[in-house]
Amino acid sequence: MLILKTIEEFTKARSNLLKGDSLGFVPTMGYLHDGHIELIKRARQENKYVVTSIFVNPTQFGQDEDLDKYPRDFEKDRNILEKYDCDLLFFPSTKEMYPSSKPGETFVVPGRTAEGLEGALRPGHFRGVATVVTKLLNIVNPTTTYLGQKDGQQVAVIKKLVEDLNFTTNITVVPTVREEDGLAFSSRNSYLSKGNRKKAPVLYSSLLIASSEYKNGDHSAQHLKEMIREQLKMDSEITIDYISIAESNSLQEVEKASPGCMISAAIWLGNTRLIDNIVLE
Ligand code: PAF
Repeated sequence: MLILKTIEEFTKARSNLLKGDSLGFVPTMGYLHDGHIELIKRARQENKYVVTSIFVNPTQFGQDEDLDKYPRDFEKDRNILEKYDCDLLFFPSTKEMYPSSKPGETFVVPGRTAEGLEGALRPGHFRGVATVVTKLLNIVNPTTTYLGQKDGQQVAVIKKLVEDLNFTTNITVVPTVREEDGLAFSSRNSYLSKGNRKKAPVLYSSLLIASSEYKNGDHSAQHLKEMIREQLKMDSEITIDYISIAESNSLQEVEKASPGCMISAAIWLGNTRLIDNIVLE
């Protein structure tokens, strides 16, 4: 695997590699886990070449968020990428991505898909995501970009970005990868204390209860959300940020759940924020 740290080196390496062949791209912030590995495997299966980026993007973190303590382990990531046969790793510095003194003087501002849920609670987050993804797509110029369903709103925002700004990349969304007890893999799971790690699967199990109630014929979004709330409230240490049932592309909240709706929730367990979702079939 080649590791490229500047945009110039990367674009040269990319064009040396590609002669009309397909390139699969997995954008990440590193600290790779089984969820990322699934994206890389899928990209490997479907493309001649695979590019992964590792960049902890400062513009998508709020002032009080975890940019400084965001977990990083380059050697481990590098071994994983070698093992799964990634061809190019784009691993730029912050200065390489944001050379002006104030990071990101020009931003890409996503529209309505970014307003609710994560966007409402993390102001500026999706502006940072849309900006860095635009930059990465311009640099990498992939045939297909692979995203995890775990970040359901991010998927909706990036799909709309690609459509509205005429990027040529295809988007492939890969199902959430879970630990044996149901907890979705996330780099931030490493913040969980032992006790809270044991409790964390309740987020997914509460979503599962609502989705099986939906399958049993109860389509009232209010009722399904109430069921999730009741499950989560059983643990007094959990703080609920939101529970939502929304159409999964527009992210507009619905009154009646239907196929294609995303049931999602965000909670705090101690000082760890967890998100998860299920898309109804
Ligand atoms: O999901 C992530 O890891 C990030 O939000 C992304 C898409 C790499 C942009 O920084």
